[in-house]
Amino acid sequence: RQRDNTSVWGIQSVAQTDRDTITRLLYSIGTKREVERHLHIFSSSSNPSQPAKFAVIKVGGAVLSNLDELALSLSFLYRVGLYPVVLHGAKPQLNEIMKREGVVPNYIDGIRVTDAKTLQIARRVFLEENLKLVSALEKLGTRARPITSGVFTAEYLDKEKYKLFGKITKVDKRPIEASIRDGALPILTSLAETADGQILNVSAGIAAGELAKELEPMKIVFLNNKGGLFHGVTGEKLDVINLDEEYVTLMKEPWVKYGTKLKLREFKELLDHLPRLSSVAVISASSLQKELFTDSGAGTLIRRGYKLFK
Ligand code: ARG
Repeated sequence: RQRDNTSVWGIQSVAQTDRDTITRLLYSIGTKREVERHLHIFSSSSNPSQPAKFAVIKVGGAVLSNLDELALSLSFLYRVGLYPVVLHGAKPQLNEIMKREGVVPNYIDGIRVTDAKTLQIARRVFLEENLKLVSALEKLGTRARPITSGVFTAEYLDKEKYKLFGKITKVDKRPIEASIRDGALPILTSLAETADGQILNVSAGIAAGELAKELEPMKIVFLNNKGGLFHGVTGEKLDVINLDEEYVTLMKEPWVKYGTKLKLREFKELLDHLPRLSSVAVISASSLQKELFTDSGAGTLIRRGYKLFK
């Protein structure tokens, strides 16, 4: 396909000089060939009728606190005509504010018990963090749209136990696609509504997964500050995990426990629901370009076992 405004470079046209600059920048992290191949693959994953097929990017609250780095990374994608769907949590920010206001966080089975007071603070904090990210993007000339309701429908997970905490039952992708069609990055937060309009707190990781199942993007990116997943004993970064071959053995490893186990299970469950070519990347904001546009990547790639792009 030709590299013109409507196909390879995505839905919204970006100034030619801008694109040239960015493309040249990309060539500095990888060879011209590999960068162009990845650009082509990612760009052709989206089209006007299915504009949200490139990537879902889950941003952890800790990553959100390095706002400039994050905004730069996302802007970079926007500049080359790619529209990731961004979903953020705000766990550390929420805990900080709760502490300041004298509310003690309460977890059962790793789930935040969300009483009315907690939800009230959570809503405030989530919306603030969302606006901060949107503003940081807009400041860089990247159009972004806050989408803080209307996407996730939820039921109470267990009203007695977890109170105002939800289990997502439905995802409406229309607000997301509308945003991309209008040329703005959709920026979502982890709040949902019940059928009768009660707002519920949901886990950002799970929301990102549900979003991905609905959108079926090529990449699901989990941004963390460590830049990947690490071996529990050697401390080495895990380069690629092929779930088909490695999942069972990996889950039996003594060092794979708690958080890592949960994450691997989440990734497996997610990828089982997605086309074989979809893959998960765990990477830092600053190395996102390298992970996406080079063959060797920079973080941890998790896939079912299919040799990607070969
Ligand atoms: N750029 C390719 C992709 O996004 C390959 C990435 C490889 N990453 C890795 N950590 N080995 O799928």
